[in-house]
Amino acid sequence: MKMSLSRNRKTDPRPSNGDLDGTGRQSGNGFEAEFQKLKTRIHRELIDSLDLSRIGSLDESHLRAHIRNLAEGLLRSRPEMLSSIDEERLVDDLMAESFGLGPLEPYMQDPDVTDILVNGPGEVYVERMGRLQETNTVFADDEHLMQIIQRVVAQVGRRIDEQSPMVDARRPDGSRINAVIPPLALCGPVLSIRRFGHVPLQISDLLALDSICPEMVALLQAAIEGRVNVMISGGTGSGKTTLLNNLSCFVPIEERLVTIEDSAELQLQRKHVVGLETRIANTEGQGEVTPRDLVRNALRMRPDRIILGEVRGGEALDMLQAMNTGHEGSLSTIHANDTRDALSRLEVMVSMAGFDLSVGVVRSYIASAITLVVHLARLKGGVRRVMRISEVTGLEDGEYRMQEIFGFRQSGTDDEGRAKGSFYAAGNAPWLCRRLEELGINLPSGLFDKRVLGVAKTSGSSALEVV
Ligand SMILES: Nc1ncnc2c1ncn2[C@@H]1O[C@H](COP(=O)(O)OP(=O)(O)OP(=O)(O)O)[C@@H](O)[C@H]1O
Ligand SMILES: [Mg+2]
Repeated sequence: MKMSLSRNRKTDPRPSNGDLDGTGRQSGNGFEAEFQKLKTRIHRELIDSLDLSRIGSLDESHLRAHIRNLAEGLLRSRPEMLSSIDEERLVDDLMAESFGLGPLEPYMQDPDVTDILVNGPGEVYVERMGRLQETNTVFADDEHLMQIIQRVVAQVGRRIDEQSPMVDARRPDGSRINAVIPPLALCGPVLSIRRFGHVPLQISDLLALDSICPEMVALLQAAIEGRVNVMISGGTGSGKTTLLNNLSCFVPIEERLVTIEDSAELQLQRKHVVGLETRIANTEGQGEVTPRDLVRNALRMRPDRIILGEVRGGEALDMLQAMNTGHEGSLSTIHANDTRDALSRLEVMVSMAGFDLSVGVVRSYIASAITLVVHLARLKGGVRRVMRISEVTGLEDGEYRMQEIFGFRQSGTDDEGRAKGSFYAAGNAPWLCRRLEELGINLPSGLFDKRVLGVAKTSGSSALEVV
């Protein structure tokens, strides 16, 4: 089924004569709101007129044909509506309303859309190739949006109501949903969808997008092959999971990986991966399986390495223990503002494990477990960059000793407001190179000499150009 796609007035490159939805009429949020209201009204009539007892016996294509007939019939009996509405679009949208995510369905079908963010019925944003765009898609009202949220949530076997007004879950297609409804959400029901139906960005894409430079990739690849523990830090949506996914691919194919995530996002294109996912408590407060439980269990599964999607709490302690005792080369991500901040946050998380460990002990644990910290940021204009790669070389007077290996220096923004700047090598040869050399992994001499590594283009020739 071909869905009509609402277009973004601000960013859509196609020439606009005001005919934004391709229906030949002037469009805008006012029209969209009217259209949605009309559609929900017909949709309700449609549901009333459906013979529900027959639905179970029809396969999906028959059911779709049946709905199309009914909708066309209803429309023919309302000529006054026909004059202001594109019938084809209405029928398409009614199909989406009945089976899909209503006004969001076109974005669910669009492979370029990675995030869909709904802030109440009147505001929908989508992210395409790293760039967040406001759309002119709207819902009829709170109730309409709630219906779609209820459907999304029901599809994953959960429920959302005043008693439990927040849901975070993974859809069968791998995308992640988060819904928060009033009274917690102040602007009406809020829905965030992170889509994973699309092909994840590969390391070649990250290079083409200038999110990372080849010298950094060379170091990280060698570090992963040489079983160095790596922590990826960064803010929300900075590309941590995407980089983790790519770094995991550098793990030699014969090694056994166990991945642990809250909602399975990693898409490792390799064999010998055992994926584990946490579970929240049911409505009776039972059955919770925490990341901590899974990290401990993973240790009994004879993993060569453990990939923890994100460290958030007490599981940090078990992860550090794993990294220190036979599972070197493990990887994780953490929300932090810089590489040093990542270590401080780890300390806080270790304390959540509930053991009375002194700061000195915790720091020595962290310093001996973590060797490289890669910090990512989402800069102006949606550009993601590796901002710093630091090596943790030990403790000195109770403080972490760290050295910067590579970094990115921002030098302003381009005409379109996108961050520009250049990568550099800080001039510090990593200590871990000695260990790598013992393993026969030799990095080119001069790789770490102090210099500028090339100016990151803010737009360019790559197929995946940031738009
Ligand atoms: N280098 C990049 N350039 C452009 N877009 C990117 C880049 N890396 C990731 N993205 C996109 O940004 C979004 C967020 O990526 P990702 O899930 O990897 O971030 P994250 O830091 O793990 O987010 P979270 O904080 O939610 O865990 C995804 O839609 C992804 O496709
Ligand atoms: Mg992530």
